[in-house]
Amino acid sequence: MSDDQGGTPQSPRLRDYVAWHDAYEDPSSSLSARLRQVQAQIAAWLERTPGSVRVLSSCAGQGHDILGVLEERPYDCTRVSGALIEVNPRNAMAAREWIHKLGVDIDVVEADAGTTSAYAGLVPADLVLLSGIMGNISPADIERLVHVSRQFCSRNATVLWTRGAQEPDLGPDIRRWFAEAGFDEIACDEWIEGTGMRVGVEQLTGDPEPLRPGEPIFTFYR
Ligand SMILES: C[S@@+](CC[C@H](N)C(=O)[O-])C[C@H]1O[C@@H](n2cnc3c(N)ncnc32)[C@H](O)[C@@H]1O
Repeated sequence: MSDDQGGTPQSPRLRDYVAWHDAYEDPSSSLSARLRQVQAQIAAWLERTPGSVRVLSSCAGQGHDILGVLEERPYDCTRVSGALIEVNPRNAMAAREWIHKLGVDIDVVEADAGTTSAYAGLVPADLVLLSGIMGNISPADIERLVHVSRQFCSRNATVLWTRGAQEPDLGPDIRRWFAEAGFDEIACDEWIEGTGMRVGVEQLTGDPEPLRPGEPIFTFYR
């Protein structure tokens, strides 16, 4: 890691991903609109998925999606466990503090989520969160991430992804890549609250794949 702005060995200069979270404090921001939809989809998933469940969030930031939902649903904290992978130490610390307050069994792993090695011991998960990744990596990396996400999944797991409508609009490609990787689409919410934000929900119907550590998946370019 190059600095506390979230640089990775492959991509030393990234946006300030601590300040990036400020948009969540403005309910009228498009990122807040996206977050509300992501949280609604997570809550819906919890409603239809009984028993103990494991969650994995890649590039989790401060964990607003899953932790925000659990804050509203404290009764689910005893049945949810899992891990957040985040490269920025300040974001990781903010997530840890929130998790401590909630008293939920979720680990925060400070690592480069762009390689399969980071997921060792953390998967398979029943819910895989890929929020805020696909707008920051190349199309080839997105396609690889979609296929590799099978390695993060338990049987019938759900994968949630986001990608805005900015050009090139890769939404149709991403949906096709998930289908090719053995997923069925549960939802694809577009133009959320009039913004160009999109939230997809996919369920694995093919077989999960065992994790193959040591494989590169993606590199953030901003
Ligand atoms: C756009 S934000 C999304 C945060 C969160 N998933 C959300 O939707 O609120 C992207 C996050 O990915 C983190 N990140 C960037 N590159 C990463 C990498 N290689 N491994 C792990 N985290 C990374 C950044 O520090 C940032 O917190």
